[in-house]
Amino acid sequence: MLILGIESSCDETGVALVDASGHRVPRLLGHALHSQIEMHRAYGGVVPELASRDHIRRVLPLTAATLAQAGRTLQDVDRVAYTRGPGLAGALLVGAGVACAMGAALERPVMGIHHLEGHLLSPFLSADPPEFPFVALLVSGGHTQLMRVDGVGRYELLGETIDDAAGEAFDKSAKLLGLGYPGGPALARLAEQGDAEAFRLPRPLLHSGDLDFSFAGLKTAVLTQARKLGDALEGRKADLAAATQAAIVEVLVKKSMAALQQTGLQRLVVAGGVGANARLREQLDAACARRGVRVHYPELHLCTDNGAMIALAAGLRVQAGLADRFGSAYAFDVRPRWPLAELATPR
Ligand code: KG4
Ligand code: ZN
Repeated sequence: MLILGIESSCDETGVALVDASGHRVPRLLGHALHSQIEMHRAYGGVVPELASRDHIRRVLPLTAATLAQAGRTLQDVDRVAYTRGPGLAGALLVGAGVACAMGAALERPVMGIHHLEGHLLSPFLSADPPEFPFVALLVSGGHTQLMRVDGVGRYELLGETIDDAAGEAFDKSAKLLGLGYPGGPALARLAEQGDAEAFRLPRPLLHSGDLDFSFAGLKTAVLTQARKLGDALEGRKADLAAATQAAIVEVLVKKSMAALQQTGLQRLVVAGGVGANARLREQLDAACARRGVRVHYPELHLCTDNGAMIALAAGLRVQAGLADRFGSAYAFDVRPRWPLAELATPR
């Protein structure tokens, strides 16, 4: 069972081929990725219309590269999966349209996959895949959620951000510090040279007693601090970056530990772009070690958006007998807003 996966929800075009035969974890046979970062950099952020057009340009060459890498042809593909949402409507439509055209031409089934399900299952492609059940910390540019995951398609939302996502907090703070786009990795890099204790920034909702997050106040605090520093900001940027990162990381770690405590689960899975953050990994590792909890991450290159996680999620769905829950053949739609909890099946 060979599944081709296409990701085009935002600013990365990703294509991958997995083998989901039998009940082994689907195996990655090939994947290709094009990041639009260079294109959007001039505008300081993602320009949706440019993103859609670039996906159109890239998706077929990337498909050819993926198949060549795997030593297969399009005829060998048994199913085509695409990211149905959430994401930018125009960008999603490219992947959906191409996947459905391929499916129709090959007379193979097509599956619309939830982008966050892709992220949250992505650690299954690592050398040390997790076992169900686990708590998932999903930290991307658009979402920050804690989920209880009992199996493929069995997701229960434990808590989420009430305003900005963790990735957004990185990106917006980076912008305030003049670090450009994409802000997360840039802020993380600068933070390595700074002193996180130099400024005390707020940890919103840290003691709220629930598993929700709030990051919107943090960027305001960063802005206030930056203004207060005035001309002195230049020399203190690394310290402010380090303090910002420390605030975000502390909240993510503490809430993840609270989710483990609340559910009584012994396993944590971290996924999404912010999961690439070295400080976050270091502090989660330490906190989980103290509790005797196993922690799993996707491989670094599969933390941010990619086609492999979409093909993988499709493969795991096929194996779990959940392949056709998204409805029929080549009449496609996309869901720019799509709560992951809608995928939940009764336990
Ligand atoms: O999962 P992702 O690629 O896209 C979404 O689905 O949103 O995540 C992108 C986010 C961006 O906000 C980016 O700044 C952040 O992940 N990010 C990082 C790091 N690498 C990516 N944030 C902090 N540290 C990093 N090393
Ligand atoms: Zn993503």
